[in-house]
Amino acid sequence: MESAADPRSPLEQSSLQAAAGPDWQVSLHARAESTNALAVASARKGLVVVADHQTAGRGRLDRVWETPAGAALTFSAVIDPQLEFQWWPVLPLMTGLAVARAVGPQAALKWPNDVLIADHKICGILVERVETGAGALAVIGIGLNVSQRREELPHEGATSLAIAGLATDRTALLGAVLGQLRWGMGQMLADPHGVLAGYRGRSCTIDRDVRVELPGGSTLEGRAFDVDDHGRLVVVPASSVPAVQAQPAAMDPRTAVVVSAGDVVHVRPLQ
Ligand code: BTN
Repeated sequence: MESAADPRSPLEQSSLQAAAGPDWQVSLHARAESTNALAVASARKGLVVVADHQTAGRGRLDRVWETPAGAALTFSAVIDPQLEFQWWPVLPLMTGLAVARAVGPQAALKWPNDVLIADHKICGILVERVETGAGALAVIGIGLNVSQRREELPHEGATSLAIAGLATDRTALLGAVLGQLRWGMGQMLADPHGVLAGYRGRSCTIDRDVRVELPGGSTLEGRAFDVDDHGRLVVVPASSVPAVQAQPAAMDPRTAVVVSAGDVVHVRPLQ
């Protein structure tokens, strides 16, 4: 069992399974390149692939997600969302909301689904769609920084639960995140607009000045105005509103640009 004294003691299959509960089948790997790759290859509903040390995780926008041995909670859960096609783009946002709820009230969401504490990234999420003969499944990949020290983090914009002074028991965290994921999956079916409302309530991007690095290499600067019902970021470009910083009330949403993929930089730090 992972002790409070040493958050990096090795994970144990039976403890993880007990924390996850009977709806999930946990498969623990002492070392794996990418739990998402393993989960995509298996594509079995309810499977949760956990790596004690993930060495070449897949990140958003073709990046690599690396974490030191035993310092992070890295796992991928296979779900059958049973969603109408239109709601699939909201799954990554729902996942961000689920992780934020598991972490606690300090956690906020940077569009689309980075989980931040005090404007520093604590968790990255990569959702992949897998087509099977019996329909589409989703692989929900979650990388949560748990006990990293500052010098072990990939950049200054990252943090860990330990640095934030929060609990670092990876087994308990897996149980908490999976519990919130189950809640989120139920909500997606019952009330997807409610999920989006919950997401917006946790957003630290809406109403901020942002620079969005778009997949083609161009950038968009402006004020994040909203997240729409498709999970897209609605940005009012700075160029269309000369007084955007001085007079946010003067923004006209008719000039807005809708962004479905990209990397957001919050231009000014939180006050
Ligand atoms: C991001 O770029 O912010 C998303 C990072 C997602 C990393 C997680 S770690 C567990 C899972 N397995 C992977 O290969 N990637 C995800």
